[in-house]
Amino acid sequence: MLTRVVQIEEAERSKDLLYEAGEIIKAGGLVAFPTETVYGLGGDALNPASSRKIYEAKGRPSDNPLIVHIADMEALQAIVKCVPEAAKRLAEAFWPGPLTMILEKSVLVPKETTGGLETVAVRMPSDDVALAFIRAAGGYVAAPSANRSGRPSPTRAEYVAQDLDGRIEMILDGGDVTLGLESTIVDLTVEPPVILRPGFITREMLRQKLGHVEEDETLFRPDSGQAPKAPGMKYRHYAPQGELVIVRGPAEAVTEYISGKLDDGRLYSKKTGVIATDETIDQYKADVPRSVGKRADAAAAAKGLYRILREFDDEGVDLIYSESFEGAGVSQAVMNRLLKAAGHKVINV
Ligand code: TXA
Ligand code: MG
Repeated sequence: MLTRVVQIEEAERSKDLLYEAGEIIKAGGLVAFPTETVYGLGGDALNPASSRKIYEAKGRPSDNPLIVHIADMEALQAIVKCVPEAAKRLAEAFWPGPLTMILEKSVLVPKETTGGLETVAVRMPSDDVALAFIRAAGGYVAAPSANRSGRPSPTRAEYVAQDLDGRIEMILDGGDVTLGLESTIVDLTVEPPVILRPGFITREMLRQKLGHVEEDETLFRPDSGQAPKAPGMKYRHYAPQGELVIVRGPAEAVTEYISGKLDDGRLYSKKTGVIATDETIDQYKADVPRSVGKRADAAAAAKGLYRILREFDDEGVDLIYSESFEGAGVSQAVMNRLLKAAGHKVINV
């Protein structure tokens, strides 16, 4: 299959292209599109054959449910059994935006889209191109992140093409995404609601709207002895090809430890990488040194992390050490993805 890549700078000026993309979806095809979080791999959420195609293109297990992307509140009512008060409150506060809600699904949504579950994940993205595309596609676009299974989520169209060229009909290139990590997922089918994946809509923000909110215990600990509640969180995602180890502790001790390990790596002729911050990056002698930005700027780290992980793969790095990112808010999302990429290999110094 030939994959067409089309540039979309502004939804308003690209109506014809968006119409074409919408027609592909309506005919059962697949189109990758930008959202504010990461690029999505879209298909018609109400067409079981489209969802099967998405799993195939991604190389993803079909028990891993997809997020249904919508562009207005009427669409939400159509795909869920009922819209609970909590969902209304969250939608009003955070939609369109980087929040996904799990609700009871209606009969309109096929089991192929929900990985066999009776619940459905729903999100209204804020990106203009995404919203215009969803409307052109009929209003219900099932989309996982547009990477091959096991690769970091793509933050630019070029990365989508690396993973999916020849496997999908079209890629809408809207440039670099603004956030860089996937949406927060909150399960509203249980009381109290549970955060299944941390993101830019933080626990504190959700608590402010809902009162009590819990967190899936598996988010930061591999040893909780429980299966993650979002099926996708059980797979080792975002894994770079090299070994990734996170080093945690007082700043100076971390720098010293990592520097020593980089020296060892060189001794054994390993190609080394480091993930650090502007404050520390110059102290490391790695083959591929990468700073995520200023330590206090968690949003910059979120935006750059997946690009950096892909760059390590492109450079054939064998051994990667990363500083750790503590704190509340967006840092939690950064650390959650980093821990998953590292397969939870953490050294405390
Ligand atoms: O920001 C995002 O959410 C991006 C963009 C494209 O919107 N999408 C995304 O999709 O990250 P994906 O498929 O890579 O991750 C969706 C996660 C998976 O871990 C999946 O298991 C979980 O959501 N999920 C989907 N439906 C669910 C459900 N009904 N119950 C529990 N977890 C669900
Ligand atoms: Mg994904």
